[in-house]
Amino acid sequence: MSDTIAVLGGTGALGRALALRLARSGHPVVLGSRDAGRAQASAAELRETLAAAGTPDARVEGAANEEAAASGEVVLLATPWDESGASIAALAPVLAGRLVVSCINPLGFDAQGPHGLAVAEGSAAEQVAALLPGSTVTAAFHHLSAPSVADLDRDLSGEDVLVCGDDAGALARVVELAAAVTGRPGVEVGALRQARVLEPFTAVVIAVNKRYKTRAGVLMTHVDPTRARA
Ligand SMILES: NC(=O)c1ccc[n+]([C@@H]2O[C@H](COP(=O)([O-])OP(=O)(O)OC[C@H]3O[C@@H](n4cnc5c(N)ncnc54)[C@H](OP(=O)(O)O)[C@@H]3O)[C@@H](O)[C@H]2O)c1
Repeated sequence: MSDTIAVLGGTGALGRALALRLARSGHPVVLGSRDAGRAQASAAELRETLAAAGTPDARVEGAANEEAAASGEVVLLATPWDESGASIAALAPVLAGRLVVSCINPLGFDAQGPHGLAVAEGSAAEQVAALLPGSTVTAAFHHLSAPSVADLDRDLSGEDVLVCGDDAGALARVVELAAAVTGRPGVEVGALRQARVLEPFTAVVIAVNKRYKTRAGVLMTHVDPTRARA
């Protein structure tokens, strides 16, 4: 039985896109929103898209964030970075005991282009871990482009999802989750603090996209997943 995935910020560009691919691969998905009606409307749209794509049995529901979080064995955070972390902190009790995956990129944009923002805890993922002491926190999916993920005809198997975290079992689960999204297992890149590198690197990807009018992905060459040390 596939894990149920809750996607907080599930009405947004990345959340909807990840939900589509995870549901297509057989995971029940619950979109979370600050407004339950908005989440239900998004879920209905995604069910239509999935039915049109030949997967009418795919399961996507919508709920208020708290209810969504309570129903997910794995909870993706696909919300904008917020220095206060208030909306995440409010969910600490319900997220306790769950595997949380932060997709959050704290980015700014100015005349010189995109850039990483300073985060007091080091990274958004570490901030999330501090706000959710009862959860197991990992970080992944920073460098995927939401429109590419939402395009179900697009082959993403040439892109790597870089995954970091401090719990080996959690990392292994997120590596598999990445495969459900892209068709290619995620690549473990080390401890949660590596998010200090992964998150602002997204500014590089966005700058490349703008310069070359593309949707670039990240690829680590010469990595054989079967050779990962136990
Ligand atoms: N877009 C991409 O291609 C992409 C790729 C990789 C990573 N990311 C990261 O993923 C996250 C989401 O990106 P996105 O482009 O999908 O963002 P988005 O569309 O701006 O926002 C996602 C959702 O977050 C909810 N939200 C907004 N402000 C919130 C707040 N203060 N507290 C709680 N929920 C709030 C909204 O849902 P409700 O109003 O329904 O609650 C919104 O639909 C960001 O951290 C981004 O850096 C994005």
